[in-house]
Amino acid sequence: GKNVEQLILDAGQKKFGATVCDVCGMVYTHADPVDETTHAKFHISLINTLKFTGWKKERIVQEYPLDGSRIIMVLSDDPKYSTKKVADINKIMGQELGFPEQAMSFHSNYKAFLYISEEKTIEGCCIAESINEGFRVIPEQISSAPIPNECHQQRPWYCETKAEKADIGISRIWVYKLARQKGIGSRLLDSVRSCFHYGGVIDRKQIAFSDPTPDGKKFATKYTGS
Ligand code: ACO
Ligand code: ZN
Repeated sequence: GKNVEQLILDAGQKKFGATVCDVCGMVYTHADPVDETTHAKFHISLINTLKFTGWKKERIVQEYPLDGSRIIMVLSDDPKYSTKKVADINKIMGQELGFPEQAMSFHSNYKAFLYISEEKTIEGCCIAESINEGFRVIPEQISSAPIPNECHQQRPWYCETKAEKADIGISRIWVYKLARQKGIGSRLLDSVRSCFHYGGVIDRKQIAFSDPTPDGKKFATKYTGS
C-alpha cells in the first residue's frame, strides 16, 4: 500500500494539477485564481446557455419520441430571443474550439438547428448557410456575361442568374461534450439536409464543412461517406 506521505503527495497533485471539469469540459488548474475564475465564468455561461425551457413558437423540424428529444430550426431573421440564443451558443462553440471571441463569424443569412434533449438542454447546434446563394458558380472565363455577385462582393465569384440547386455549407457543428458519439451530430445533419431547402432532401455529398477540426474531419468523412 501507499504510505501517508505518498497519499498526501497524490492529493496535492490532484488539487494543484490540471483538471478537466466533467460538466463543461474545460481544462484548468486548481489554486490558480485566474484559471479558477475563467473556469467558473465559462461553466456558468455554458449551463445558462444550454438551458432551454422551450419557446411558444418553435419551428420543430424533427422529433425523436423514443428519447423525448427534438430538433428546432432558427432562421437569421427570427425574433431576437431566438437569434440571441444561437449567438450565445456560437460563442460557447468558439470558446471551446479556441477561436478568439467574435461575433457571428458566418453569414448573416443562416439556418441554425438546435438539438434539444428531454432534460430541456441544448445538446447540439449546427449552423448552416447556402454556399452560393442558389446560383451556380461558374469560372469567369467561361461566363459570357459575368455578373458580380452582389451578396459576395468580397469574394471573386461570378455567377449565372439562373438559380440552381445550391450546396450547403456547415459553418459550425457542435455537440455537448458528454453527449458525443451518440448520433446527435448525424441527426442534426439529417435535419439540415431535409429542411434547408423547401421541397427536397439534399444529398450527403452536397454538404461542405468550413475549416473543420480533427473531430469535425472524422465526423464529416463518416457522414458524407467520402
Ligand atoms: N473521432 C472519430 N470518429 C468520430 C468522431 C471522433 N471524435 N466523432 C464522430 N465520429 C464518427 C464516428 O464514426 C461516428 O459514428 P460511431 O459513433 O457510430 O462510430 C460518426 O462519426 C457519427 O458521429 P455522431 O455521434 O453523429 O457525431 P457527434 O454527435 O459526436 O458530433 C462533432 C460530432 C459535432 C464533431 C462533435 O464531436 C463535436 O462537437 N466536436 C467538438 C466541436 C467540433 O470540433 N466541431 C466540428 C468543427 S468543424 C465545423 O464546425 C465546420
Ligand atoms: Zn466546468
